[in-house]
This record gives sequence, C-alpha cells and structure tokens, in this order.
Amino acid sequence: MPAETNSKPNEEMLLAIINNYPGENRYILSIMQDMQKQFNYLPRQGLEMIALHVDSPFSQVYSMATFYKAFSLVPKGRINFKVCDGTACHIKGSNVIIDQIYKHLGIRPGETTPDGEFSLETVNCIGACALAPAVLANDRVHPKVTSAGIVEIIKSYGGHVDASSK
Ligand code: FES
Repeated sequence: MPAETNSKPNEEMLLAIINNYPGENRYILSIMQDMQKQFNYLPRQGLEMIALHVDSPFSQVYSMATFYKAFSLVPKGRINFKVCDGTACHIKGSNVIIDQIYKHLGIRPGETTPDGEFSLETVNCIGACALAPAVLANDRVHPKVTSAGIVEIIKSYGGHVDASSK
C-alpha cells in the first residue's frame, strides 16, 4: 500500500523533506525518493523547491524525475492498478484488461480518474508468469484476469462500471 496517499503536499511538508538534506546535487535522488514515498508522486512545486535547494536548473531536476520509472509526476489513485504487460501476460491478453479499464474507468496508462480513486499503469514482468495475465491492485496480485474478471475487480474496489458495456 502506498504510504501516505492522502497527504496533500504543501510548502511546509515539502520543506520538511528537503531540509533533511544538504543543498548539493548528489542528494536530489534521495529527496525525490522521500517525496515519492510520502505523497506517492512528485509534485511540481516540490521539484521547483529541490532545484532552488541544490542551486540547479529546474530542467535538470525535472529530467531526473522523468527518467526514473519509480517516480510519478501525477498523483496516483487510491487504488493503483498495475497491469503486467510482460511477454507472458501480453500473449494472454493484457491489452484486453487495459481496454476494459479504459472502458469502465476512462483512464489510460499513466492516468488517474478525476475523483482520485483509480490510476493505471503498465509494468513489465512481475514474476508471476504462471498466473498470467496478472494485475496488481496496489500490492495485491490478481491472477489470470479475464475480460469479465477485471470488471469484477474494479467493482470490488468500489468502482462504478458501465453494465451495458461489460
Ligand atoms: S509477464 Fe506478467 S508476470 Fe511475467
């Protein structure tokens, strides 16, 4: 489970993280890791404050944030779906799962529903190929997910699905 998905970042909270580190370039990644852990994403204001703190151009900090897959620049949902799109899962229909999520929740990989409830991303092999196609909902693995199965999974997390397009 994400650590503190409900905390909304403000300047004071961001400063509390940043001021744990000296204002040097080599601490940029550590600061970002702490921010990601606390807020489950890297707020733009936080990146701007890091740039000031280490006296580096914002573009440098931003490009580091986009380079590492562990970082997200948009807030994740309460439930973050990670659809495995490694080879085994792809062959067994991960694209159908992605399509179903789009159909029912209106989000593509990298997006979050406007109410902040669900987000979606694709990941490479999660080491559960025997269970392909697999979907993670936060840290919980859902095995052998079918087209109808993902609809039930969405419902089980409180999502409203469009019954007519099941
Ligand atoms: S390819 Fe999906 S778990 Fe390995």
